[in-house]
Amino acid sequence: MNSVVGIDLGTTYSAVAQFDEFGRPVMVADQDGKYLLPSCVALIHNEWRVGTDAWGQWAADHGMDQKSSAARFKREMGTSKHYPIAEHSLTPVELSSHMLKCMAAYAKKALGPIAPVVITVPANFSNEARQATIDAAEDAGINLANIINEPTAAALYYAYSGKLDQTGTYAIFDLGGGTFDITIAKFDGKSVDVIWSDGIARLGGVDFDEALQMALKEKYEQLTGEEISAQNISHEGFDLRRVQDLKHSLSRRDKVTFFVRGQVIEILREEFESKISNFVTQIQLCCENALDGADLDASALDGVILAGGSTRIPAIQQCVREVFGKEPLSIANVDEVVALGAALYAGHRSDQDVLTKLQQASAAELSVQDVANKHFGTKALSWDEDLERPFEINSIIIPKGTPIPCSETESYLTVMPDQTSVDCSITECDHEEIDYDSRFIRVLGEGTLKLPPGRPAGQEIIVTYEYDINQIMHCHFEDVESGEKKEITIDLMKGV
Ligand SMILES: Nc1ncnc2c1ncn2[C@@H]1O[C@H](COP(=O)(O)OP(=O)(O)OP(=O)(O)O)[C@@H](O)[C@H]1O
Ligand SMILES: [Mg+2]
Repeated sequence: MNSVVGIDLGTTYSAVAQFDEFGRPVMVADQDGKYLLPSCVALIHNEWRVGTDAWGQWAADHGMDQKSSAARFKREMGTSKHYPIAEHSLTPVELSSHMLKCMAAYAKKALGPIAPVVITVPANFSNEARQATIDAAEDAGINLANIINEPTAAALYYAYSGKLDQTGTYAIFDLGGGTFDITIAKFDGKSVDVIWSDGIARLGGVDFDEALQMALKEKYEQLTGEEISAQNISHEGFDLRRVQDLKHSLSRRDKVTFFVRGQVIEILREEFESKISNFVTQIQLCCENALDGADLDASALDGVILAGGSTRIPAIQQCVREVFGKEPLSIANVDEVVALGAALYAGHRSDQDVLTKLQQASAAELSVQDVANKHFGTKALSWDEDLERPFEINSIIIPKGTPIPCSETESYLTVMPDQTSVDCSITECDHEEIDYDSRFIRVLGEGTLKLPPGRPAGQEIIVTYEYDINQIMHCHFEDVESGEKKEITIDLMKGV
């Protein structure tokens, strides 16, 4: 029987978990016997390597012109960025594919053949970044069952763990190495219904590492009067791996010591915290927006649960207390909850006949409902009474936060006499943008609906968006009178 696994493809660390034969989620160890695999890829002696060795190479490469490694590429998923590695040039998809191949290989070594996998993505990931994750799985030769939002996976694990109240509304505060997500969900036994998600795509532990590195550099310069070039900082003793270790110690201690270039530098937790305070403010605002979006007061929440390694930072926990007026619940390993939730979701989505009786029983208790994480709409024309001419608007059809699957229909009228076509475009945006401003609105798909000539303005066009559980959008544009139809399928699992 194939093993059921979930993969947490993280910015700094990745992890695999299994839905075991008893229907429990358990972590799977990597080639070093560890559960967390550094998300780094390197070409070492002409061999592609992933994980700890690659991370060592990355630390050595930092600031060098010629690189033989890459890290933090998850942040660039869905972009056209390329990473030079020796004589190669790799996309974030290819780098992620190396990660996935490595994880699938060690999962297979430990567990035997594996069933279609679930891979996690940040809730705030754009369509392009989701698509890039799906492409990476395909490139790695991995059969993908589904993708799931990271905080939703974490929520599923918490629901499964039985450590929360039987029913309640919780915020899942997920701060990892690269991104921040805040999701608000209703829990009922082992069911999770997401109400709302917000996030910040580029905010996480790697930013804190750099802030601490700069703080250490400044202290060293003050102490010695010597200037360190920011470009070569990692080679001057301020290696980001050492800096990251120091950051971890600062979550436990008020003061730590860094030995560098024959000097002893002491740094206080409060000094580090002041360096990351602008990030903390952004997180705070994002949480407030999420409460607004969910139309909830913080007092209505039953608790705040944590995911992601950066939630160990005391200033971050203090931020949770301030925004939500509650002590964050630390009842599970924040590094592992996303992978464990992905394994549960993989079990939940599996064909029942490939599961053992115990797995079936466990999977049957679980249920997850997620929501549209963006506003989906179409470009439409509105009439400006003063100027007596049409202007473009973004008309939202599926608002962010709508439980999925869903189907919504809107009716539009043609604005010009003898209008022979309608532009059908599918738009996506994070905030409720009404004005059609291309800086904030992404176009996911386009087409043209042809109309019969010679008709007056005011012909009704019906637009239906169906957004299914697999995040596949089907859009129908129909001219009511002629019955002329245009169907645009945006398959978020396969691209436009
Ligand atoms: N004790 C600690 N104190 C401060 N930061 C920590 C601690 N432990 C782990 N971290 C940080 O947590 C981050 C890793 O967390 P996690 O594995 O959840 O993120 P990720 O999955 O790599 O990133 P993302 O989910 O954002 O893509 C790293 O930046 C790491 O330095
Ligand atoms: Mg993560």
